[in-house]
Amino acid sequence: MYSAKTGFWLIVFSALLRPMLKGLQNKWKVNGWQLVLIIATFALGGSLTGYAGRKILDQFHLSHGWERVTLFILLVTLLWPVAVIFVSVPLGQFTFFRAYIHKIGKRFKLTKNGQKRAKKGKKRVNIAIFASGTGSNAQKIIDHFRGYPGIKTGLVVSNNPHAGVLNIAIRENIPILLIDKKLFLKKDAFLPFLVEKGIDFIVLAGFLWKIPDFLISAYPRKIINIHPALLPKYGGKGMYGHFVHEAVLAGKETESGITIHYVDELYDHGQVIKQVKCTVAADDTPETLAARVHALEHANYPGVIEDIIRQTLHFT
Ligand code: GRF
Repeated sequence: MYSAKTGFWLIVFSALLRPMLKGLQNKWKVNGWQLVLIIATFALGGSLTGYAGRKILDQFHLSHGWERVTLFILLVTLLWPVAVIFVSVPLGQFTFFRAYIHKIGKRFKLTKNGQKRAKKGKKRVNIAIFASGTGSNAQKIIDHFRGYPGIKTGLVVSNNPHAGVLNIAIRENIPILLIDKKLFLKKDAFLPFLVEKGIDFIVLAGFLWKIPDFLISAYPRKIINIHPALLPKYGGKGMYGHFVHEAVLAGKETESGITIHYVDELYDHGQVIKQVKCTVAADDTPETLAARVHALEHANYPGVIEDIIRQTLHFT
């Protein structure tokens, strides 16, 4: 039987642990089971590292002084990546840990970015961002993939010559295509252009025109969009920007959020990839709600794009 004290500590422990685990789940974009396997990999990899480090040191018959401690730290640092990669294979987490170790290596400038992949002759996955407005999401996406191994933002397409996203593209040195409706709807002009630019994946980030069918067929499950509400409500033609938030407030919703979805032949209709909710406060204005939703978009869209590209283009 548990004593009251044990029960108390269990409650405190789980109250602290739950948000921490949720936070990790969001950060790494994994489900509950995968999180368990990742933690198990860390634990087993760590123990294996410690064990192997001690065994190696024993071979050198070092005394228990500072030389042994220094060497042990050095060994553990070197062995840890190998150990977790080793353990991650049977636990099915190889892809996650390869990316994780690469990220750490990049942070400490130990591994290079995507140029390596390019050198090996493997083409980097080339994203085109379609946007008609400010481009704050476009900026986050560009930031996310800047120097990223194997994925790059290769083109910004806009229909609006005054769109803020164009300044972002210029600043970031990304080629721009400013299109008019005629060119956009012309299969034998627009499509060859994208192919020539080597575009593999299309991300809509506040793009106001409906995507023509030929483009959807040419890029099956390779065009995704973000909508600033919880679809299927508050979507469709004319539902963009402040119109969406006004409608959510008029609908007296207590929750809103974002929907990331595949693009199909209808406005805001394709299969949902991810939704993230936020509360709607009683005193919200369309502006305050928009700010909350925008923050969710920035925090989630780049990571989802990365995951979908990995899955769809079998890129790890
Ligand atoms: C975002 O709210 C997005 O959901 C919608 O268009 C808006 C674009 O905002 N599709 P920004 O230009 O990225 O700031």
